[in-house]
Amino acid sequence: MIDMATNFNSVRPILNENFNKVYIETYGCQMNVSDSEVVLSILQPQGYSLSRNYKDASLILINTCSIRENAEQRVWARLRELNSLKRKNRALKIGVLGCMAERLEAELLDSGLVDMVAGPDSYRTLPQLIDGANSGELAANTILSQEESYADITPVRLDKNGVSAFVSIMRGCNNFCTYCVVPYVRGRERSRDPKTILEEVKLLFESGYREVTLLGQNVNSYCAGENITFAKLLEQVALIAPQLRVRFSTSHPKDIGRELIDTIAAFPNICKHIHLPVQSGSNSVLKRMNRNYSREEYLQKIDYIKKRVPNCSISTDIIAGFSGESEEEHQETLSIMREVGYYTAFMFQYSQREGTVAAKRYPNDVPPKVKGRRLQEIIELQNSLSLLSNQNDVGQEFEILVEGRSKRNKEELFGRSSQNKVVIIPAKGHKVGDFVKVRVTSCSSATLKGEAVE
Ligand code: SAH
Ligand code: SF4
Ligand code: F3S
Repeated sequence: MIDMATNFNSVRPILNENFNKVYIETYGCQMNVSDSEVVLSILQPQGYSLSRNYKDASLILINTCSIRENAEQRVWARLRELNSLKRKNRALKIGVLGCMAERLEAELLDSGLVDMVAGPDSYRTLPQLIDGANSGELAANTILSQEESYADITPVRLDKNGVSAFVSIMRGCNNFCTYCVVPYVRGRERSRDPKTILEEVKLLFESGYREVTLLGQNVNSYCAGENITFAKLLEQVALIAPQLRVRFSTSHPKDIGRELIDTIAAFPNICKHIHLPVQSGSNSVLKRMNRNYSREEYLQKIDYIKKRVPNCSISTDIIAGFSGESEEEHQETLSIMREVGYYTAFMFQYSQREGTVAAKRYPNDVPPKVKGRRLQEIIELQNSLSLLSNQNDVGQEFEILVEGRSKRNKEELFGRSSQNKVVIIPAKGHKVGDFVKVRVTSCSSATLKGEAVE
């Protein structure tokens, strides 16, 4: 453990060209992407600069995810790979950050593959942890906090498009869905001071950004006292500038209310897209998952969204093969997908996570083959729904914000519509950061192609 009171304002001397170069590799969700930016902001005043190539770095930080077994397997494989680099360069230090650091501190330190472990709420102490690692200690801090929101830290942006940025508005989660590890590795829910959020967004807009995504595990429970609900915060962010698009993620179906949906309808610059993870279409499965809504309640909210915001796209997360899931329950998931008509979905096989309520109470009893087959059916259905949704867009006009040049064809740019769909257009006359009105001319299940209209 480290001494929290140590002064970490001292700047390290630069001993050689690569000595203070840090490489940060990020796994997991958008929160982790945002956290990596916080980490860089903490390290830069200490004399560290970002390296874009891990082979040039004196410090490699891996910001990790624990959500499913395979997310952790990937990180272990990467750590073993990096270990060969470490054997060649004794000065190289490797640190593990994020959710897996929180969950597996002891295993990571015992593995001999890492020098340092820092949980999601301990990034302010990274300078001392790095000092410790540099003087040969195994340094670790995985204390979770009730208050830490890094509110005063303006993240240094790691993405390079200069157009869209993540802004973290809360941390942690109190929902304890029975399958989920997040409440254990991220700690209790806490909301960031709205003043600091608005200041950060203003600054982003002034430096040329044209889209922000407000982030939290359950943004609907954002609460900053005195009537500052998430809908109010969203409204204030939207009022910063009409040319700034605002997105958010993730909404929890049990908490999304009319106030929020009405706010989305009222502001043209709040994007017409809601990610509303359903997880399952079966009431009995939802109950075992402790999701606190029924299929009927979920569908009522979808109805209200469709009525109030007719051009709103809806996406979701789905888990196949949760404990005890019968064939009938699986069919209910397929039927809710058809009923809602998601334009896209993140789809997973259930992965049992040690320490969660499900791991203690419900057996992981759907055989891997059955899980795999059900997931395949879910993916195939989603592909056909995505194609249908995209075919509906052909011939229609959308405004896109151009985010970058297409990797496949340098003559093409890509951007996103308010509905969060990627549209590819010929590059001529446009550049990254432009809003361009386009007509969709063709599609596949994955992308839309379009052309600019006057
Ligand atoms: N806070 C967000 C999502 C967090 S994790 C929410 O509640 O919607 C992202 C997604 O990972 C979840 O929506 C869920 O679909 C999936 N997930 C979480 N735990 C999982 C597990 N143990 N096995 C498989 N998928 C899981
Ligand atoms: Fe996990 Fe549920 Fe919290 Fe989302 S709301 S992070 S799924 S516990
Ligand atoms: Fe993974 Fe942690 Fe996000 S477990 S999904 S990186 S909050």
